[in-house]
Amino acid sequence: MQIKAPRGTYDILPEEAVKWQWMEQIMKETAARFGYQEIRTPVFEHTELFQRGVGESTDIVTKEMYTFHDKSQRSLTLRPEGTASCTRALIEHSLYNGTLPIKWFYAGPMFRYDRPQTGRYRQFHQFGVEAFGSRSPFLDAEVLFLLVEILQGMGLSEYELHLNSVGCPLCREQYRQKLIDHMAPVKDKLCKDCQVRYLQNPLRVLDCKEATCHQAIINYPTLIDNLCDDCRTHYGMVQQTLKDNGIEFVHDNNLVRGLDYYTNTAFEVHIPGIGAQSAVGGGGRYDGLVESIGGPSLPGIGFALGMERLLLAVDKLGCVSRAQQTVDVFLAVMQENLENQAASLLYKLRQQGLSADKDYNQRSGRAQMKLADKLGAKYVILLGEDEIKGNFVTVRDMKSKEQWKIDNEGLIPFLHECLDNR
Ligand code: HAM
Repeated sequence: MQIKAPRGTYDILPEEAVKWQWMEQIMKETAARFGYQEIRTPVFEHTELFQRGVGESTDIVTKEMYTFHDKSQRSLTLRPEGTASCTRALIEHSLYNGTLPIKWFYAGPMFRYDRPQTGRYRQFHQFGVEAFGSRSPFLDAEVLFLLVEILQGMGLSEYELHLNSVGCPLCREQYRQKLIDHMAPVKDKLCKDCQVRYLQNPLRVLDCKEATCHQAIINYPTLIDNLCDDCRTHYGMVQQTLKDNGIEFVHDNNLVRGLDYYTNTAFEVHIPGIGAQSAVGGGGRYDGLVESIGGPSLPGIGFALGMERLLLAVDKLGCVSRAQQTVDVFLAVMQENLENQAASLLYKLRQQGLSADKDYNQRSGRAQMKLADKLGAKYVILLGEDEIKGNFVTVRDMKSKEQWKIDNEGLIPFLHECLDNR
């Protein structure tokens, strides 16, 4: 039987990898411009981290984790997201004692066992940022500016930013009870999942996908009307700062997010037109998370973007022309007995900082030119008997088709000059 990649995973082949490099570069450069530094954490962690961090009753923890026992019978889990890992690292290295806020970004694979479909995979990639150590609403705004800047950098300006405040533990607890009271008389009309959920985590009923649940709880009390003064002021300031800076958003009463750690600002970004999985990113504040994982009381805020979904959007909406991987020079060898000299010349070109390639399958002269074209070569160096005898090479500009005979010694400076002037 042919061995294939496991369901929900896929290979990123070189042609696709170029797009990933392009996207990652935009993300990393933008984050660096905003003062965020890269952190890399392990791909697996102790299972308990996600149970405590993401929340025991969340879909991620109850249904979607890749959990296994290692040879020492420790329970480990492939990370389903990055926030809990960053928080663990912050605590483990006591970084909360240093200058605050700490601002990090990360990019890498995450793992969730869910039903695969377009835009939903079992191994997928996130680019995320986390900022620890400030409750300032202006930091919330900064994080959102950064998110928008990345989308715009990728040519994705047709996004919808949904915003809500999920309050603090104090106002949320009171709100939770109000919701349960509102839902209890209509509980039989809720979907099967929500009939269980409404007691444990009634907020999750608000973002249930079933229309019948929404009809059943119509006119439910909203979070925004039940925030305490502090939370209302905080949310108001975040909204105002976005408005002052021309960032469009919609306040969304149904937005509650699927992870337990959120407090106050919560948000999601959607790009309509990319299919059912239109959420390209999400995030928010998590002022209690550091403490719940065993650290000091330290606020945090961040987001994660789904990299597959962003590339899907770029492909579907075709709003940007991406850089193609090309080579500066292709070395076309006209006789087989010149392979030795060709190998040395190719090595020299690469040592001198030029990207260069050649054929290794004894293609004809014509076929080598075709290959050069396919690789996007800007120049071709022709190497034949005449060239070797005369200590020169023939250089062809692939665009203008102009050709020059260049002394061996002068070749590298000539190519550098040509490339600089393009
Ligand atoms: P999340 O909403 O679970 O948040 O995931 C963020 C993004 O990851 C989603 O909006 C989506 O684009 C992408 N994503 C999630 N699951 C999949 C999947 N199975 N296949 C493809 N893409 C997927 C978090 O993970 C939080 N840690 C975000 C955060 C950071 N909050 C604060 N800081």
